Amino acid sequence: MPAIAIVSAGAMGSAIAKRLVHAGCTVYTNLDNRSPAAHARALAAGMTIVPLPTLLSNSSWILSIVPPGEALAFAQRIHSALALPSGSGSGSLPRAFVDCNAVTPETVKRIGALFNETPMGFIDAGIVGTPPRDGWDPTFYACSEPGSEDVLEEFSALAQYGLKVSLLKGAGAGIGDASSLKLCESMMKKGSIGLFMTMMLTAHRSSPATADALMKELSISQPALMSRLIQTVPEGIPKAYRFVAEMEGLAEFVGGGEADVFMGFARVFERVAGSLEGDGVDIETLRSGVERALELQGTSK
Ligand SMILES: *[C@@H]1O[C@H](CO)[C@@H](O)[C@H](O)[C@H]1NC(C)=O
Repeated sequence: MPAIAIVSAGAMGSAIAKRLVHAGCTVYTNLDNRSPAAHARALAAGMTIVPLPTLLSNSSWILSIVPPGEALAFAQRIHSALALPSGSGSGSLPRAFVDCNAVTPETVKRIGALFNETPMGFIDAGIVGTPPRDGWDPTFYACSEPGSEDVLEEFSALAQYGLKVSLLKGAGAGIGDASSLKLCESMMKKGSIGLFMTMMLTAHRSSPATADALMKELSISQPALMSRLIQTVPEGIPKAYRFVAEMEGLAEFVGGGEADVFMGFARVFERVAGSLEGDGVDIETLRSGVERALELQGTSK
């Protein structure tokens, strides 16, 4: 049974840990400077909390699942620990460091370069989908440097313990591609929420009657999109403050004039987050629009 390290124990990391522990794996984590809530989640998921040197000497894989802004610093901590006597003293090191974070291809290449001169391999992975739950697993898209496909094949063998892995191989594939794929997927998933919110707020600015007529029209002409609006707009409201930085990150990733699309979505999420903290007028517009869409969905069936 493989021993796998997952750092840290957020919603995604702990849910994946639970899956692996259930399949019989040992899952280590290190929670130096983490909150009591992270400790509680880790223990509830069946993870074993250890110091970093133990994590290094006892794990076959290190999965980095941290907030994107901490991805490079965590990889640097692991890289520094490798140089310590305790890092290699036991003789065995993990097979690879797997960066699973929503970082730019540029950042993941910097992270990967840290492991170039070490005995550890490196995998760029992107997790697409929500944390695992009964009957559902997100997909780990994974790629590596051309010529190190063996480490990828070994990683994909973790499928037997419940990790859903899809290898990103083929024409031109290399480190950065899994991160790129993850960011492109976020463009659709979160950008569409930004588009829905912009559309609803702008229609309402003309008049409440316009917003109502728009919902009627779309429930007839675009029922699939309306189902998505009904599901994602309410989910997006409390997360809007987080989406601001994510949209700015996507803008930087896209580059060029097209980046402005995502700077625009950052502004609408900023506005929605501000309304949630403030007078709530825009939140009311969005919520009543979703309610109307739900009623219309009910009557069209
Ligand atoms: C780490 O591995 C060593 C050697 O196999 C073992 O004795 C020890 O119990 C392991 N530590 C933990 C915390 O599992």
